Amino acid sequence: MSADDRQRRVAVVTGGASGIGYALAARFAADGMDVALGDIEAAALEVAVARLADQAPGVRVLGVRTDVSSRADVDALMGAAVDAFDRIDMVCANAGVETGGRFLDVDETAWRWLMDVNYFGALHTAQAALPALERSGDGHLVFTGSLASFATGTPFMMPYCATKMAVLAVAESLEIELRASGSNVHVHLLAPGPVQSRMIDAERNAPAGVTINEDGARREAMECFRARQSAHGLPAEDVAALVAEAVATDSFYVLPHPDSATAALERRLAWMRTGEAPPVRVAGS
Ligand SMILES: NC(=O)c1ccc[n+]([C@@H]2O[C@H](COP(=O)([O-])OP(=O)(O)OC[C@H]3O[C@@H](n4cnc5c(N)ncnc54)[C@H](O)[C@@H]3O)[C@@H](O)[C@H]2O)c1
Repeated sequence: MSADDRQRRVAVVTGGASGIGYALAARFAADGMDVALGDIEAAALEVAVARLADQAPGVRVLGVRTDVSSRADVDALMGAAVDAFDRIDMVCANAGVETGGRFLDVDETAWRWLMDVNYFGALHTAQAALPALERSGDGHLVFTGSLASFATGTPFMMPYCATKMAVLAVAESLEIELRASGSNVHVHLLAPGPVQSRMIDAERNAPAGVTINEDGARREAMECFRARQSAHGLPAEDVAALVAEAVATDSFYVLPHPDSATAALERRLAWMRTGEAPPVRVAGS
């Protein structure tokens, strides 16, 4: 490895084979960073690595098949990145999945799958990455939350909302802890509304043993999500540009849909102040 190679900054992105994760990796590579992608889909990962290498010649790209619900897999991803590139400066805990349905109809295996990927996946990624990010001297850790981190107001998407609220809690608390301890690592929470991606087909990655209930409420939630994504979904590249800007300015919150985020919080505040529950919204709205 040449001295020049050693100085190049390095990003690791989970869920990097598709959607927001791929766009983040492409953005970092375009900015001259070396990139390691972790994803559970081996074939999509291979395609993504080849595409990135093509788009950003001169940048080194690594793909490691990773299931973020496994701490051992995430440790192996970080280890492979350090072995290949000598350092890690930026980590995106981005991999995420979605399912829904009426409360009593969502099988416990589906609840656990979402917690394992969206919550424990983010936790594993942060814990495995922090030592290397501290060594960077200017480390950044980006959690992908969602508007659902701020609002539970959509019926039939309860498991997703619960996991994304947990991600918000970890991200905020960790940023506060790192500032209090004088760390040079900065945390960011990306909390988008609809973004063009393959999220609507997230159940493609449900492991054997997870029961996805085929009830009408789940289908309704997914159809609304699909409609919102195709009507209002931001290009993932625009979201990646906002993340790059937030990192450059050390902003904690990255809000691609800022009005929706504040409206969600205002609905909760009104509920707390008046005691009156907000009107039920259509799933996915
Ligand atoms: N698309 C949206 O509208 C939207 C809105 C808010 C938040 N998000 C969040 O953005 C993140 C990225 O999703 P996306 O919209 O790009 O969807 P996507 O399906 O296009 O990408 C998700 C990626 O994560 C990978 N993945 C799934 N399970 C995994 C696991 N166990 N380990 C490692 N990788 C795994 C998938 O293979 C896929 O490549 C998710 O956390 C999602 O919750 C998406």
